[in-house]
Amino acid sequence: TYVVTEACVRCKYTDCVAVCPVECFHEGPNFLVINPEGCIDCGVCVPECPVGAIYAEDELPAGQEAFIALNAELAAVWPPIAEAREPLADAERWAEVADKRAFLDT
Ligand code: SF4
Ligand code: F3S
Repeated sequence: TYVVTEACVRCKYTDCVAVCPVECFHEGPNFLVINPEGCIDCGVCVPECPVGAIYAEDELPAGQEAFIALNAELAAVWPPIAEAREPLADAERWAEVADKRAFLDT
């Protein structure tokens, strides 16, 4: 399974959504998650993300491990998203910020 990590928070570029063959992304206010029950491990979403937020769960950067459970939990309650949208208004500015997990709105 692939996992969306902290770098997506307050950016939500949604380029990942446009390429997923099984539509397993779910959308919250300022973050997306991958439904682990839908992901087929194809990996095509990884290079699409402008901020490099998506990783295979066994290759997560240090400190991002909590996002495995968070993707599963939020995918269960957030609605699916099947088409790309405009990024959030301040996406470019937030793309520069490394420590932004506290801003994840649920
Ligand atoms: Fe979708 Fe493939 Fe990315 Fe999984 S790895 S979320 S199936 S594009
Ligand atoms: Fe987020 Fe990157 Fe997708 S910023 S919405 S994981 S393209």
